[in-house]
Amino acid sequence: ATVTYDFDVSWVHANPDGAFVRPVIGINGQWPIPTITATKGDRVIVNVKNSLGNETTSLHFHGLFQNGTTHMDGPASVTQCGIPPGSSFTYDFMVEQPGTYWYHSHTRGQYPDGLRGPLIIHDPDSPYKDQYDEEIILTFEDWYHDMMNNLLAKFISLSNPTGAEPVPQSALWNSTQNISIPVQPGKTYMFRMVNMAAFSAPYVWFEGHTMRVVEVDGIYTEPAEANMLYMTAAQRYSVLITMNNDTDSNFAFVASMDQDLFDQVPEGLNPNVTGWLVYDDKKELPAPAFVDEFDPFDDYTLVPQDGMSLLDEVDYSITFDMKMDNLGDGANYAFFNDITYVRPKVPTLYTALTTGSSATNPAVYGVNTNSFVLNKNDVVEIILNNDDPGKHPFHLHGHEFQVAFRSDEEAGAYVNNVTMPQVPMRRDTVLVRPNGNIVLRFRANNPGIWLFHCHIEWHVASGLVATMVEAPLDLQQNLKVPEDHYQACHDGNIPIEGNAAGNTVDLLDLTGANV
Ligand code: C2O
Repeated sequence: ATVTYDFDVSWVHANPDGAFVRPVIGINGQWPIPTITATKGDRVIVNVKNSLGNETTSLHFHGLFQNGTTHMDGPASVTQCGIPPGSSFTYDFMVEQPGTYWYHSHTRGQYPDGLRGPLIIHDPDSPYKDQYDEEIILTFEDWYHDMMNNLLAKFISLSNPTGAEPVPQSALWNSTQNISIPVQPGKTYMFRMVNMAAFSAPYVWFEGHTMRVVEVDGIYTEPAEANMLYMTAAQRYSVLITMNNDTDSNFAFVASMDQDLFDQVPEGLNPNVTGWLVYDDKKELPAPAFVDEFDPFDDYTLVPQDGMSLLDEVDYSITFDMKMDNLGDGANYAFFNDITYVRPKVPTLYTALTTGSSATNPAVYGVNTNSFVLNKNDVVEIILNNDDPGKHPFHLHGHEFQVAFRSDEEAGAYVNNVTMPQVPMRRDTVLVRPNGNIVLRFRANNPGIWLFHCHIEWHVASGLVATMVEAPLDLQQNLKVPEDHYQACHDGNIPIEGNAAGNTVDLLDLTGANV
């Protein structure tokens, strides 16, 4: 079937934590924005009209491979031009991957202003379909009272010499702080949980109930019991929870933001958002327990249900030494191998399509895009050494990866003498621990331009981004980019052809309209 959404993107007002009314980015005059729902095998069409007036925009469908449709992936300056105010743009792609995803703006720091929603692909052949009665979507968000453009300007400024990330004012479940879910005794629910945060990673628990993890970032797993999950920005978990057999009491479920991520915890911050499983609406809603009463589940132990074994013959290995620093000029930057990402003027995809045989030379994409050219079907390994005392959630577009190794914190750089799991966990966003390392592997079987980046929106702004240019000559032969995509570039006066080496758009250019 074809599922079509018409999205008119514009500013509306909202007050999700009850403390402050502010402009937010809505769709068709509404906020929170709609869930995109489809069934495996469907074609999804999303017609976007940008009615923001003052900012460009774009949509990314987080976790979808966009196989054969890299031009529908959404990051501005990478696979398209940002859609200028007044212009329209159509996303059109097939969905073959069942599971729990989300969609969000992929234009400089914009999604925490509200342009983020769940994307669910139903699966008539799910191995778990007979094991639950109902599905419930549960999104987590961190909420800022100030607008992202203001926060970004302050973040990357002289008055913030240590690079402290802005701390959200509150935490939300399903874009609110008042959530009660009526449940029936004995029933089993599948909670599809999505962390749509800009920054925060919550510990999540359901009191008086056990979670059974069955899906992680779109990958079915062998069922695994968990009392508490740690969800980094952009991660998803589907869990089965069987309700108790009586209606004697109601139970809290909590997302508690990991305060280790915050350089300074502001006075009065409530890091928690609490919801309730309501068995009997005449009974009280109990106060939640404390976060340290539970042990977080280790996702590294998850086993994909398909049993896919470790890709053990690596064709191409990339090592990223990652650090955060400021250059003494007050501006804070993040680096992979001493390169901080600056978005190119010509979108990377259009460079790949218009530079002929030079498209296999990473230099044409510009040094500041941190581009790596991958050969079709190679097994690619990314070794990431985190030379920073912070936790970072890394995401790769266009693929899921095997987590071939993840060190403990403070392990330093990866040393090639570890035991890797025979059947590693696969997902699309993974945590690297403070001063630790990870080793990720995937097969380059999806020609396209795919970003690899930290999913903390502040760190995207400070350049913690690299570009995978996968099989560019294959793209030149097979990819047809529709006219309305180039029209967005024309409307925004952005060139669509040639060598992108001139990274002419400065990441510090954060004032005024973002065209
Ligand atoms: Cu949620 Cu670059 O992605």
